[in-house]
Amino acid sequence: MEVIHTVAELRKYLQGVPNNVFVPTMGNLHEGHLRLVEEAAPRGACTVVSIFVNRLQFGPREDFDRYPRTLADDCRKLESIDCDVVFAPDEQELYPEPQTYTVQPSGIEDILEGAVRPGHFRGVATVVLKLFNMVQPHAAVFGKKDYQQCLVLQTMARQLALPVEIILAETVRAEDGLALSSRNQYLSAAERAEAPRLYRVLQEVRDAVRTGTHSWATIEAEAMTELERHGWRPDYITVRRRADLLPPKDEDRELVILGAARLGTPRLLDNLELTL
Ligand code: PAF
Repeated sequence: MEVIHTVAELRKYLQGVPNNVFVPTMGNLHEGHLRLVEEAAPRGACTVVSIFVNRLQFGPREDFDRYPRTLADDCRKLESIDCDVVFAPDEQELYPEPQTYTVQPSGIEDILEGAVRPGHFRGVATVVLKLFNMVQPHAAVFGKKDYQQCLVLQTMARQLALPVEIILAETVRAEDGLALSSRNQYLSAAERAEAPRLYRVLQEVRDAVRTGTHSWATIEAEAMTELERHGWRPDYITVRRRADLLPPKDEDRELVILGAARLGTPRLLDNLELTL
């Protein structure tokens, strides 16, 4: 496995490679990331994982400075699976000048995560497009845990005619149902014990929507109250259609339940697809 820090070295290394599959990450890798790499590996001649904590997608009061940076540990984990190249640029390499040209994913960037984290998806789309231009993959793998991010990037690839297939991988969960995330390590022991409730609440919403006894607005409100009763501060628990994350119309069958809530300081995200 090669660890490469500059675009020039990366381009040189990839010159003779017929195709590569790309897994962009911000590092601090856990089992969920490793599954993305395993998903990527059989799909191309070379598997490239990037590790870059992207300042552009963090708000001014978010955790950019304390986001865990664990490159040596990440490389050890990647070495044990089928990863060929780790691309770990520093900030100067990725953003050598102020990034005044950006990708603005309009519409979807103003709802749900976008409403809570203004500018977040602009930062994500911009860095991913830039990384695509550096790595030039024929496919890239993202985890469905960040459901709205997946939709933003799929739409970007389609609307900008990028020659990259976007592959979405299922969320990896701990045994108690908690979706794996680098931010789980911010949870105290008591919060970690409580954290699987978010997924349980999404499952309850799914069951209630399927039974069809209450309006979805009532089901969503009850889910928020249930979390609040256990000390959470939910931003949203909502049933949306998968295609654009807008509120479903009567005829919509392909749905997703999305949830985001704070438990103490950490903010957890999860989702559950549902077909009626
Ligand atoms: O999902 C992430 O880790 C990040 O948003 C990504 C896609 C690597 C862009 O920085």
